[in-house]
Amino acid sequence: MTAYLNGQFMPLDEARISPLDRGFLFGDGAYEVIPVYARRAFRLEQHLARLQRTLDGIALANPHTLAEWCERLQRVISESEFADQSLYLQVTRGADSKRDQSFPRALPPTVFIFATALPSLAAQRENGVAVLSAVDNRWLRCNLKTVSLLPNVLLRQQAIDAGCAETILLRDGILSEGATSNILMVKDGALLAPLRDQRMLSGVTCDLVLELAAAHGMPCQLRDIADAELRVADELWLTSSTREVLPITRLDGQPVGSGKPGPAVRQMQAWYTAFRQQLAGQGNAGDV
Ligand code: PDD
Repeated sequence: MTAYLNGQFMPLDEARISPLDRGFLFGDGAYEVIPVYARRAFRLEQHLARLQRTLDGIALANPHTLAEWCERLQRVISESEFADQSLYLQVTRGADSKRDQSFPRALPPTVFIFATALPSLAAQRENGVAVLSAVDNRWLRCNLKTVSLLPNVLLRQQAIDAGCAETILLRDGILSEGATSNILMVKDGALLAPLRDQRMLSGVTCDLVLELAAAHGMPCQLRDIADAELRVADELWLTSSTREVLPITRLDGQPVGSGKPGPAVRQMQAWYTAFRQQLAGQGNAGDV
């Protein structure tokens, strides 16, 4: 499996970084996870735009132009043994000669790219998943996709330990997102999603779902969603780049709506798949 690290392509198991790397010491860096279908990165432009926003938000210069990113990503994609991939990229503030929280000057950043097989989630997509809820105890810059993920790691593990697919997070009784995903709600035919602010990551998949809903005339609204509303939702959905759109059928052990994937998620899954297939047919300019 080919990885890219700081200007070189190499087998993943030969990639090495310094223990003084600020990503390792402080979680000081940004990342993206991009789905790849049939060796074409999906919504690449949107992922690289979000990477830029994260880098701007943590005062780290983008080490590459768009063309340079595409060239590096393309080589990792083409050398992977899998056609459908989860493509990972990470930029950290680099390795200094000492451990100091404040930023060192003019340190070369560490750039790492690798790809794994995109997991097939056909059963989850078809049958739905169970989730649990927890208090969102993360910082207030959740709009940035940084590698400081310990709170997300602990929150997601709560779900796994309880036999659930995800933990959905509530801050002051208001839905923010999942530990590794976005959450949307359907009520009375309308699609509702949390307001885009520092409480949550603006998901590329969630954005596409909202775009598709709007394009097909489904009413959509971004607003605060209270815990009590989640409990009486007609449908709840989970979105992420690696999971697309999953129906949530149980929340904290209780059925969501009918307890089965609802008609709106079936419709959205069909729109999503059609959109993907249409892009694959066209050869999207933003893809590599
Ligand atoms: N996570 N919110 C959080 C906290 C996430 O970690 C993710 C995705 C999302 C969904 O964003 P997108 O649709 O752009 O993938 C929302 C990735 C997949 C991960 O960390 O593995």
